[in-house]
Amino acid sequence: MRTLRSLLGAAVLASLALSFTACTEQATARINDSAGPGDPNPNPDPDGGTGCEPASKNDEIRLALAPACEGCHRIGNVPIFASLSAFETGLVYNERYVKRGDPANSLLVQMLKGNAPGSYPQMPPGQHYDELVASGRVTLTIEQVEAWIRDLPAPPEQLETPSPEEFRVRRLSAEEMVVSLMDQLGLTLEDFVSTSNADWRNRAYVVNWNKFFVWPGDWSPGISGEYVSDQRTIERFEALGGGNSLQYRKKDAIFGPSAGQTLVQMSQAWCGRAVDKRNNPAVLRYVTLADTSARNPDAVQKNLRYLYLRMLGQPPADAELKALYEQVYLPLESQSTRLAWIGTCAALIRHPLWITY
Ligand code: HEC
Repeated sequence: MRTLRSLLGAAVLASLALSFTACTEQATARINDSAGPGDPNPNPDPDGGTGCEPASKNDEIRLALAPACEGCHRIGNVPIFASLSAFETGLVYNERYVKRGDPANSLLVQMLKGNAPGSYPQMPPGQHYDELVASGRVTLTIEQVEAWIRDLPAPPEQLETPSPEEFRVRRLSAEEMVVSLMDQLGLTLEDFVSTSNADWRNRAYVVNWNKFFVWPGDWSPGISGEYVSDQRTIERFEALGGGNSLQYRKKDAIFGPSAGQTLVQMSQAWCGRAVDKRNNPAVLRYVTLADTSARNPDAVQKNLRYLYLRMLGQPPADAELKALYEQVYLPLESQSTRLAWIGTCAALIRHPLWITY
């Protein structure tokens, strides 16, 4: 499930906003320079629309419309400005919005003019597109959009084919973090609370007390006096970015400082539980706590490699494995192998590849 994600994902995500704006300006300038909207693109850009040069005529239009639209349509219900392929599949070659060769009957043009039928007569809502042109915020005119639709080429054949260059990254939700971490670390509810006691719902829970339990406030069997008897359990979940429908609390779509802080504590506490749990091969698969880098270096390396793959879903690059070994495992091993494996496990959980999907 995680194999498609690129290591660069998080970094690219962070830099996208900056480069996108710069590209938008360039594209606008280009459109105004070009001889006419019907021109076939003489230099198709091989980089698939990720660089500043528009990849195609459609890409020019996308980048030129972007200042007026992308604020609301990069993400959300209608993410048609998320990428060139989103723009083409969602808007350009979606008959509902663009009728090839027929601008007058294209909803897109009607929306720009503010006279579209239906719930959304005008885009952007509440503002005339022409005013944006007049103010210089966008330079692509409605006439140019019409001319582009009139001469719109047929959709490329590979339109529906998934492209390996396209990726979307988002943070894991708090629910996903709790569930996948339990699974990866070989932990169950029983490691935190005693559900096997027939009377567990009616007793103040003390079993495995203080093990940094994190659980949604609105999940079954959470709505018992038992689970919520430690209010911190739910508070931690909310700090992790989780919502609570019982309290009208929305989940947090970004990964902020409180989520980071909670994940640090949670990763350390839960990795500790996983290492200490008897007969649990989740973290200690090829080593025991008696194996050290001096006594059994191969087993340590093998287990590091295994743990990386288990937590992040892809094999480590040699350099990354080396860094993990030298900067995380070894310094902690001088205190104890137990600490070394807990620390390594927790470091992987804070890795961008673990946090994103
Ligand atoms: C201020 C925010 C905002 C801006 C700017 C904006 N839109 Fe929208 N757009 C919306 C909202 C809200 C909807 C309704 C769907 C949704 O919930 O996202 C919508 C819906 C749409 C739809 C789907 C309509 C339907 O009936 O299916 C299209 C197509 C669209 N917008 C195109 C555009 C284009 C093109 C631009 C730029 C010229 C633009 N939008 C600018 C907020 C915006």
